[in-house]
This record gives sequence, structure tokens and C-alpha cells, in this order.
Amino acid sequence: MTIQLADFPEVTKGPGKPETYKGVQILRHDPCGAEILNVDLAQPTADGTFQAVMDIWHESLVICFRNQDITAEDQLRFGRRVGDLSVIHTPEFKGEDPAIMYISNVKENGEYVHALPVGEMMFHIDQCYQQRPAKATILYSIKIPKAGGNTLFCDLQRAYDTLDEKTKEFIAGLKVLHVYDYDAGATHTAATVADDAPRYVHPLVRTHPVTGRKSLYVNRLMSREIVGMDRAESDRLLGRLFDHIENPDFVYEHHWKLGDLLMWDNRCTAHARRDFDPTEDRLMRRLTVLGEQPV
Ligand code: OGA
Ligand code: MN
Repeated sequence: MTIQLADFPEVTKGPGKPETYKGVQILRHDPCGAEILNVDLAQPTADGTFQAVMDIWHESLVICFRNQDITAEDQLRFGRRVGDLSVIHTPEFKGEDPAIMYISNVKENGEYVHALPVGEMMFHIDQCYQQRPAKATILYSIKIPKAGGNTLFCDLQRAYDTLDEKTKEFIAGLKVLHVYDYDAGATHTAATVADDAPRYVHPLVRTHPVTGRKSLYVNRLMSREIVGMDRAESDRLLGRLFDHIENPDFVYEHHWKLGDLLMWDNRCTAHARRDFDPTEDRLMRRLTVLGEQPV
């Protein structure tokens, strides 16, 4: 269960042809991901444009606004429109607003001062170890390394849809315990987790509250066991499902540019991060929007 991301092939499928949807210019990627080319988040977004953006998000699961020059306030204004913000549970990492956190390897007095400073991170779903995990994570790039640090997204709806019928039947109704031990296993699964590490049980298959589509709601970093199943059998099934969702056919790989603002849907995607040179600065401003309890 410790596949290293370094072995994961680079996914370069490229965007499709430019299209326009209700005045919004987009470049769609496969199997998920869409770049939005003509929306400036430094300005309040008109209602019609915002609705179009939400439609594109629900269809493409991950959206990227290119070339943004925005303040924390601009990012908060956009985030609040998507929904109630979720407050960061690690007080040492709170930014200028309780919902803002910086993901960065930038140091002060020789010490890291922000969350998730270095290196590769296994596939995971933000806050799936909470009763109401984030629906959206909104990440804005302020400093990026010359190479590496790509964020990979896997489409958990595609992953569910492509399971064979027997497996779909077998897993219907199963529940999974998700645990996150930030101290022992922030980026790779911890062999053992602290008794007080945050945890929550959610359905293995969840239904998207807006689109009604089903997702295979598991991830290698945080999903630890299937409730009520013999441990060895649970490990086998989870291992198989992790391998399945991490099929490169289901993955969009985001190559960051400065000024990208990415918003992903944690209800139907899992994400991972590639390694990067720790001597180069990477600084991202992050906001999460509270989601529903998965059903
Ligand atoms: C996150 C996260 C990935 C990245 O902010 O939740 O996983 O590329 N970030 O920094
Ligand atoms: Mn994350």
C-alpha cells in the first residue's frame, strides 16, 4: 500500500478545443478538469457567469482560472459564493481569515511556518475524516517551483462507473473509516495512527448532491478500514480500490502556472501532489468550503 508517486506516469493528455458556455471560455481536459479563460476573480462575478462557472465545475470536477491577480479578500468573496467556508482545524496554520491556510515550504527563522511544506503527497480527499468534509478546495498559486509540484486529480465518478457489476453489488452499503494523523502521516499513510487522530466513517460509495452521480469515496492516504470486515479482507479490498482509482486513465495532471486558481470538488475527486525541489519556494493560498455529510 505504499506506491510512490514517483512511479506514476506523467499524464499529458492536453486540453480539447476551446469552447464557450454561456459566455465563459473553456478548455476541457480528459477525464476531468477545465481551464476557464475569461473570468477575472479580482472583480465580483455577475450572477449568470457564476452560475455558468458552477455548471462547468459540476461537469468537469476541477476548474482552473488562469492568470488571476487576486487578494485574500477576492478569494474569500468567491469562496463564500460557493458555500459556507470551513474553518481550519489546525490553529497553528490559520491565515488572515480562519478559513485561509497557506500550503508552503517558505521558512521563517529557518523553520517551516505553513502546512504541507514538502514533497509528494499520496492521493487523498480533503477533510474526509470529518463529519462534513470540504466540498471545495480553492488553491491559488503565489510562488511555484520551476518544475514539479504538479497536482493530480482522479475522477472518482469514472472510477465508480468502470467497476464491474459484481464489485458494485458487493460494495453497495459498505462503510469506510477515514483517519488523518497530521503528525505521523501528513503525506504518506502512517503505519499506526494516534488514538486521538481525527476520524469519521462514511459510505464507500457516495452520491453527488447536485448531479446525482456516484463516486468511489476512498483514498490511499486516509481510508484505513472497511467497517465490520475482517482486517485482511478489508486491506485486500481497499488495496484493490486504491489501485483502481489511481488508474492514469482517470487522472488529470495539473501543471501549475503562476496566478492559477484551482477549485476541485472533494465529493467526486481525490488528489495527490508530485515531489519538487525543496530549495525552491512554493506558496499557495488555500480556502475550503464546507460540504454535506456524505450519503
Ligand atoms: C491541499 C493539497 C496539494 C498541492 O491543499 O489540500 O493537497 O498541490 N494540496 O499543494
Ligand atoms: Mn489536499
